[in-house]
Amino acid sequence: MEFSIKSSIPEKQRSACIVVGVFESRKLSPAGESIDQISGHALRDIIRRGDMDGKSGTTLLLHNLPNTPSERVLLVGLGKEREFKDKEYRDAVRVAIKTLGDTGSIEASIFLTELPVKHRDTAWKIEQTVLVAMESVYRFDRLKSQQEETRRPLRRIILNVPRSELAIGEQAAAHGQAIAAGMNLAKDLGNLPGNICTPTYLAQQAQELAKTHKLKLEVLEQKDMEALKMGSLLSVARGSRQPAKLIVLQYQGGGKKQKPLVLVGKGITFDSGGISLKPGAEMDEMKYDMCGAASVLGTFQAVAQLKLPINLVGIIPSCENLPDGNASKPGDVVTSMSGQTIEILNTDAEGRLILCDALTYAERFEPAAVVDIATLTGACVIALGGQASGLLSNHDALARELLQAGEYTGDRAWQLPLWDEYQEQLKSNFADMANIGGRQAGTITAACFLSRFAKKYDWAHLDIAGTAWKSGKEKGSTGRPVPLLVHFLVDKCKAG
Ligand code: BES
Ligand code: MN
Ligand code: ZN
Repeated sequence: MEFSIKSSIPEKQRSACIVVGVFESRKLSPAGESIDQISGHALRDIIRRGDMDGKSGTTLLLHNLPNTPSERVLLVGLGKEREFKDKEYRDAVRVAIKTLGDTGSIEASIFLTELPVKHRDTAWKIEQTVLVAMESVYRFDRLKSQQEETRRPLRRIILNVPRSELAIGEQAAAHGQAIAAGMNLAKDLGNLPGNICTPTYLAQQAQELAKTHKLKLEVLEQKDMEALKMGSLLSVARGSRQPAKLIVLQYQGGGKKQKPLVLVGKGITFDSGGISLKPGAEMDEMKYDMCGAASVLGTFQAVAQLKLPINLVGIIPSCENLPDGNASKPGDVVTSMSGQTIEILNTDAEGRLILCDALTYAERFEPAAVVDIATLTGACVIALGGQASGLLSNHDALARELLQAGEYTGDRAWQLPLWDEYQEQLKSNFADMANIGGRQAGTITAACFLSRFAKKYDWAHLDIAGTAWKSGKEKGSTGRPVPLLVHFLVDKCKAG
C-alpha cells in the first residue's frame, strides 16, 4: 500500500474514489459539502431520501455524480458529531478501507482527515489512518497452499491535509508506515507456528534486520550463556532439543556518549508449561509466547526505517519450554547470573526465569532505561483483557512516558502497583526467592520477581499477555505494543 499526502480540492480531484463523511445529524463533512455543491446537491438529495443517515458503520457508494471528476464517491457514516473521538475516527477509516476493498478502486482519496477529532491534530489523524489502513489489509496466508487473490486491490491512498500542514502530514505518514512495517514483522513472527519460529529462526530474523539496516548483532549460544552463568535462563531451555539463543541487537542513531535505551523481549517460541504442563485447550496459542521478542524486532525495524537519533539495544532471550527427562522440575533451585538463587515451584512461570538473566545482562550497556516486554501472566488477561497491556515500573516518570505513548497511539497500557508489600509473596524456604507468588496479584508478583534484577537502572515492564494476540475466530497476532514503543522512542528524541 502506498500513501501520499496532498492538499487537493475535492470537487476538482480526479480519483477512482473520493471518501467523505456524513454525521448522524445528516450534516456533510466540508469535502462532502463541496461535492454536493458542484453536483447540484446530489448528496443532499440522497441523504434527504434516507439512503444514508450518518449512523456509524454505514457506507454508501455512489457512481458518476454530475460534474464530479471522480468516478466514485464513498459516503461514510460518522455517528454523532459530539461523540466523534479517537475510536469513532478509527472506526470510520476502517469501514471506509473495507468498503473500498470491496469495490474495484485501485486508488482512493480520503477526506476524513479534515474532520475535527477532540484533542487530536492532523499528524495524529494521518498516522492513525495509515495504521488502520495497514491493519485492514494485513493477511497471513503464507502457510496456505493457495493464496486468496483480491481482484483489484486498493494500492494507493491519498490523504488530504491543509496546504500549511503538508510537511507535518508527510512526517506523520512516514511514522505510520514505519510503525505499520514494524507491526507487520511482529505479527508475522507471532503468527508463525512453533515448528518454524524457533529460537534459531528468531536469531536469523534478527540477522536479516541487522543486514538490511546495518545494525550490530550478537547471538549468544548455550556455551556463551554458560560462561556468563545464566543458570536461570538455561534451566528453562533444558527440556528442549532446540538450542537457546540470546539475541543482542544494537542500533546507533545517537551520539557515542548518549546512553542507550534497552528493550528486553520474552522469546519463548513455545510454552507447554514444562513439567508443570498446561492443560490442552488452546495450548496452540502458546506459540505466541515470543510476542515480546517480536515486538522488539518490530520496534527496531521501525526505528531504523525512521533513522531516529537515539541509541537502542534489544535483548531477546529465546528458548522453548517443554517437558523432558532433562527438564527442570518443581522444587529445583537454580542460580541466576546475578547470583541470586531461585526455587522453581512451577516450571510454567518460565518467562521471568529467562528475563531475569537478560535484565542482568542489560547492566553492561549502562542503560538510560530498560523496558521489558513479555506475555508474562494469564492473570493480566483476567485483569485487563485485550484492551490494555499491564505496566509496572520502578520509576514513575518512565511509566508516565510509556502510558502517554500508549494513549496517543491507541495502544494503551494501564499501570499496576509495585509495592514492596507484594514482595513477601515470593518468599522461599530454600532459596533467595520462589518463582511464583501464589494465586493473588499474579501480574504484580511476576513484576516483583523481575524488579529484583532491575535495581541498577530505571525499569518498566509491559505485560502483553492480553494484548499481543487475539483468540477465537479472529485468532492472530496484533503487533502490539510496537506502536506504544515506537512512540515512546519518538517522544524521547523530542525531549532531548
Ligand atoms: N506465557 C504464560 C502466560 C500466559 C498464559 C499468557 C495465558 C497468555 C495466556 C506464562 O509463561 C505462564 O504460563 N504464566 C503462568 C504463571 C503462573 C504459573 C504463576 C500463568 O499465568 O498461569
Ligand atoms: Mn508459562
Ligand atoms: Zn510463557
